[in-house]
Amino acid sequence: MTAPTTIVSAPYVARVPPRWRNEVEGVLIAEDQIARRIRVMAGDIARDYANRELIVVSLLNGTVMFLADLIRNLSLPLRLDFIGVSSYGAGTESGELVFTKELRLGVRGRDVLLVDDILDTGKTLFRVLGKLRALRPRRIKTCVLLNKAARRVEAVEADYVGFEIPDVFVVGYGLDFAERYRNLPFVGVLHPHVYKRARQRRCPDRPRSACGQRQG
Ligand code: XMP
Repeated sequence: MTAPTTIVSAPYVARVPPRWRNEVEGVLIAEDQIARRIRVMAGDIARDYANRELIVVSLLNGTVMFLADLIRNLSLPLRLDFIGVSSYGAGTESGELVFTKELRLGVRGRDVLLVDDILDTGKTLFRVLGKLRALRPRRIKTCVLLNKAARRVEAVEADYVGFEIPDVFVVGYGLDFAERYRNLPFVGVLHPHVYKRARQRRCPDRPRSACGQRQG
């Protein structure tokens, strides 16, 4: 597994819209690194699930790019469903999750692969895993593009991890801040001044990264 620790700059700067150039500090994981790693992950998953039909459950909305690239590399019979999770409202503690879309497929007795963009505090996966386990699948495995182990508060680990990342707020490749930056083709680091400014506007009394809110 690759563990990027340094932030590289240009030529990717050209891929950042001018308005966002002083908001995105740099590239943490480049497009080609992501593509290579996802091919390897898909190979691992396909091997582990050989001859099984998989139900892929993906968390909205941050997995949009990762999921698309992962499943197009996954040569397995699979069915796809989504769960919408959000934590919002100034004054709402991180971890107070709201489900905005429920699962539609039945997973009882099935092999489930739960996909998320980033495993950070672990509160999201912990809560979603609890919900899925209650539906009595045969087995659940978890797959995340990014793992920010430094901020973990729940005892949850992913079975498949794309990249270990340091404790920085990342955007791009589906990940957002206030619904922006999802379309950047790489994983970039958001300049702290962006979320500090937003935090002061939304919840001036709470000195937590991005208000401690799930960005989707
Ligand atoms: P937890 O803390 O529950 O976080 O493991 C999971 C969800 O929180 C969001 N998140 C981030 N989004 N950059 C983002 O754009 C980040 O650095 C970040 N950290 C957490 C994300 O929605 C993830 O699924």
